[in-house]
Amino acid sequence: MTSKWVTGTKAPVHDELDVADLEVTGALPPSLSGRLVRMGPNPIGPVADEHHWFAGAGMVHAIDLDGGRATRFVNRWVRTVPVSDELGEETALAPVTSGADIANTSALHIAGQLLALTETCPPYRLDADLATLGREDFGAGVEHFTAHPHTDPATGEVLAVGYAADDDPSCTLYTIGGDGRLASQRRIDLLGPRSVHDMAFTPDHAVVWDLPLEMVHEGADPDVPFRWNREGAARVGLVDRHDAGAPVRWYDIEPCWVFHPVNAYETDHGVVVDVCQFDRIFDVDPTGPGDPFPPQLWRWTLDRDAAEVKRELIDDRIQEFPRIDERRWGSPARFGYTVELFSRHHSAAILAHDLQTGGSAHWAADDGHALGEAVFVPDADDAGEGEGWLLAIDSTPDRSDLVVLDATDVAAGPVARVHLPQRIPDGFHGDFY
Ligand SMILES: [Fe+2]
Repeated sequence: MTSKWVTGTKAPVHDELDVADLEVTGALPPSLSGRLVRMGPNPIGPVADEHHWFAGAGMVHAIDLDGGRATRFVNRWVRTVPVSDELGEETALAPVTSGADIANTSALHIAGQLLALTETCPPYRLDADLATLGREDFGAGVEHFTAHPHTDPATGEVLAVGYAADDDPSCTLYTIGGDGRLASQRRIDLLGPRSVHDMAFTPDHAVVWDLPLEMVHEGADPDVPFRWNREGAARVGLVDRHDAGAPVRWYDIEPCWVFHPVNAYETDHGVVVDVCQFDRIFDVDPTGPGDPFPPQLWRWTLDRDAAEVKRELIDDRIQEFPRIDERRWGSPARFGYTVELFSRHHSAAILAHDLQTGGSAHWAADDGHALGEAVFVPDADDAGEGEGWLLAIDSTPDRSDLVVLDATDVAAGPVARVHLPQRIPDGFHGDFY
């Protein structure tokens, strides 16, 4: 039996390309100038039958857009130590001693540097040709980082929660300055040795969730050393961003799992966090994630006077990979964008939610196609919220296109398709800069 995670649109590619002048159908917006980067697992060499999607070596793909043209496609494996070894290349890096050295979850341009990121190994710095320059420790020996640092648009600070893949029941809240140097770190005690994939923030609080997906070492699949703890309690914490000595304010919540928030914001009564929430994960199916507890769009309300999180289902379609207009991070954003998976009615779809009215629009790809996370790019620096473009990878087992949608009219479908010279396997996260 071949691992289901290396077939179809998830099958790895084998070539590192650098191709100029890509074919475009439709009209790329002339305002859309910059680089889209996408990160995902792309196993190098043969994999075991029990290989898991989360465990493949990271490959980053970039598409350059400039004034209505698609000028370049380039893709490279991140030169982690295992990848360098597999390719027979010299490396000056020491092996990672705790956690998987895979760098496969996200590519983000933060504090002026393109980083390849995964929660189980240090970040890797990449240059404009996607060559690996080395590891990033933010000038302070940071080892356990995350795939999901977030830049606060109001302050330019980068907030992130990392954790060590060991028995230590804690995570660490990092603040990185606009200069790329560690500005502060704070240990946060958890209820167990838990995975914390992402976080959210408001101007006043960092939001951290303490959910019962825990590290297991004895008898675990080495690819995915997590198991759902059915007896584990769950809670959501507000960390004061202005008073490092203030205790974390914890709210109890029914056990559930969240990889990613849509956004968080302050209200007159407390904090609201919108999330893609699973009931559980890695419980009955250790090869998860997803079935039979797939993610839906939920709202968590943390009222100042309450002891528990109030939960409310916003949209019951199966959806993940939330993005917003990141100029609105931490404030009451109106629009959120997710990817619908496993619909009964159509193939994968991009959903554009109006989080204020509860309305939504969608565009579905053709049957048999896979869609990746849709990255929002504003049409101009001073464009209103949601006035811009959604960029996603639309793949079949044979090819991929970059599709560009008008975020104000998602239902109209792509305004342009960039036909890529090589398929991009289903991946996780990316950025445009
Ligand atoms: Fe993620």
